[in-house]
Amino acid sequence: MAKLQVSMRVNGKPVEALVEPRTLLIHFLRDLLNLTGPHVGCDTSHCGACTVDLDRKSVKACTMFAVQAQGADIVTIEGMAAPDGTLHALQEAFREAHGLQCGFCTPGMIMRAHRLLQEMPSPSEDEIRAGISGNLCRCTGYQNIVRAIQLAAAKLGGALQEAAE
Ligand code: FES
Ligand code: FES
Repeated sequence: MAKLQVSMRVNGKPVEALVEPRTLLIHFLRDLLNLTGPHVGCDTSHCGACTVDLDRKSVKACTMFAVQAQGADIVTIEGMAAPDGTLHALQEAFREAHGLQCGFCTPGMIMRAHRLLQEMPSPSEDEIRAGISGNLCRCTGYQNIVRAIQLAAAKLGGALQEAAE
């Protein structure tokens, strides 16, 4: 199959590659760029394990072709820590608040939470639960994920809003 040239920015670096038109963005990231943080957890676009940030939106990378990301600015979980290795506030918060168990959902969950906190710096518990409703976790029961996102919001300077009891 004829390949097409694509170019985009991924985690702040320009990337160019030849891809088959059928190559999904998730496979481009994982197999060509070796960015294996974004996971494949389903065949149905439901789980959110593949979530990345694309042009300041949360995108499930299994739902689009790599060629559709031509010219895009993409951030994956690998781009969240600082260049010196200092973890992002969300990564720290997930560790501190035990927001993960097996960790399979975590890269997508953190990328979704990242965009949520950009859009809404001080989300309520209900807003967090709605905001991550496209990301499934089989392990945690979500409670500690919500706590982790609240903790990250506080670390990042948003006023923490306690959900009404
Ligand atoms: S792999 Fe499940 S939504 Fe993309
Ligand atoms: S921590 Fe296991 S799926 Fe979320």
